[in-house]
Amino acid sequence: MASDLSLLLIVALVAALSFSQALARDPGALQDFCVADSMSKVIVNGFTCKNPELVKVDDFFLSGLNVPRSTMNKVTSNVTLINANIIPGLNTLGISMARVDYAPRGLNPPHIHPRATELQTVLEGSLYVGFITSNPENKLVTKVLNKGDVFVFPQGLIHFQFNLGRTRALAMSFLSSQNPGLITIANTVFGSKPNISDDILSKAFQVDKKTIDWIQSHSPILITLSLFNDSMASDLSLLLVVALVAALSFSQALARDPGALQDFCVADSMSKELVKVDDFFLSGLNVPRSTVNKVGSNVTLINANIIPGLNTLGISMARVDYAPRGLNPPHIHPRATELQTVLEGSLYVGFITSNPENKLVTKVLNKGDVFVFPQGLIHFQFNLGRTRALAMSFLSSQNPGVITIANTVFGSKPNISDDILSKAFQVDKKTIDWIQSQF
Ligand SMILES: *[C@@H]1O[C@H](CO)[C@@H](O)[C@H](O)[C@H]1NC(C)=O
Ligand SMILES: *[C@@H]1O[C@H](CO)[C@@H](O)[C@H](O)[C@H]1NC(C)=O
Ligand SMILES: *[C@@H]1O[C@H](CO)[C@@H](O)[C@H](O)[C@H]1NC(C)=O
Ligand SMILES: *[C@@H]1O[C@H](CO)[C@@H](O)[C@H](O)[C@H]1NC(C)=O
Ligand SMILES: *[C@@H]1O[C@H](CO)[C@@H](O)[C@H](O)[C@H]1NC(C)=O
Repeated sequence: MASDLSLLLIVALVAALSFSQALARDPGALQDFCVADSMSKVIVNGFTCKNPELVKVDDFFLSGLNVPRSTMNKVTSNVTLINANIIPGLNTLGISMARVDYAPRGLNPPHIHPRATELQTVLEGSLYVGFITSNPENKLVTKVLNKGDVFVFPQGLIHFQFNLGRTRALAMSFLSSQNPGLITIANTVFGSKPNISDDILSKAFQVDKKTIDWIQSHSPILITLSLFNDSMASDLSLLLVVALVAALSFSQALARDPGALQDFCVADSMSKELVKVDDFFLSGLNVPRSTVNKVGSNVTLINANIIPGLNTLGISMARVDYAPRGLNPPHIHPRATELQTVLEGSLYVGFITSNPENKLVTKVLNKGDVFVFPQGLIHFQFNLGRTRALAMSFLSSQNPGVITIANTVFGSKPNISDDILSKAFQVDKKTIDWIQSQF
């Protein structure tokens, strides 16, 4: 079964690559959410939506991402991909994530995500990472990443990570598609079924046929993608067919950042500057932030203003620190879905669906839990615990935007007239004036 699956996966991914030009970004959502209905026989771009009446909070939730993965395989690394197949609530929302475990000398071998830019942060250990620009330059851009460092792998470029250290390493990656796809170069080129003729490969790689035959017969590197829940494998062939069809469909709307027209387009704040590896890099994200403020939380947003290499690539991230009882107050990201994972402590989180239901959907998240906040919906996080909490969030825009409801409504400059607000909130003007004076 496993080998059939790899075949299907490769076929699906290669197909996806061929049509990736039509689908430079995931399509925009036309409703609050569209939780994947894996039982539906109807084939659309992504998955059909479950009846909203039947949607439950756990459609947006996953636990156990804190548990270390086995790295007992040829490349001694393990990628646990959390996409819309695993969290059905991610369907149509344009983002996914992965936990990556690396044994000492573990390699995540050179590969491509045909449909996503990847933003990676190192939680433990250190990694030697790189990507290669496209023809004709094919420049290798590399960097050693330590704990708290962040790196950008632009969409569709060949990239890798290698654990240089003597200890295990751990990273979290976020990808700007609900189904980023994976093409492991070695497997695809030397392990295809059937084989690519050694005539072709010996010419392409400029080595003799015997060498090619040797590489092909040693089935170079296993696919290191492992799905979060192996018991879902039976659904997988159906999902792959859906993925294939998805690859063939066109993006209907441009509710996502525009598709990139080149490998990358590093933001040029001072004209005539040359691109360097540090345009894709940031360090220090492991350092705790001060939460001494009115709400007891601190959001450190890493967008294209902070990492210029993110420009045009449709993704950003945030470190969020919470003091005990700290609140990240109700807010909206007008241009992004948020995918959050808890690294320390526990959080009470929620979002509210749009009119007329305005249903509050909440969940308590513990270490290793993952939650989806669909694009444009009001949401919040609150630290219920007696200790500090820490979360990493990833957002499906290079510039997601934040609208903090209270500040925006009561602290606008100039003030919204208290006539209007007292009517809107059905309280007297004095109360409105008091609230306004707090911002
Ligand atoms: C990844 O880790 C999981 C859980 O430890 C394990 O079941 C799976 O076989 C591993 N995958 C690879 C490719 O080693
Ligand atoms: C691919 O080629 C190698 C070497 O010629 C051979 O050992 C292997 O069986 C072939 N595999 C397939 C699936 O054709
Ligand atoms: C995997 O899925 C099965 C059925 O879908 C479920 O019973 C099991 O608890 C899941 N395991 C994990 C680790 O989520
Ligand atoms: C967030 O933390 C940084 C670094 O500790 C600090 O400079 C900044 O003032 C904090 N922001 C808020 C809103 O507390
Ligand atoms: C807004 O209104 C409050 C209460 O009326 C007042 O204290 C505050 O100065 C006003 N702010 C601005 C920017 O007009």
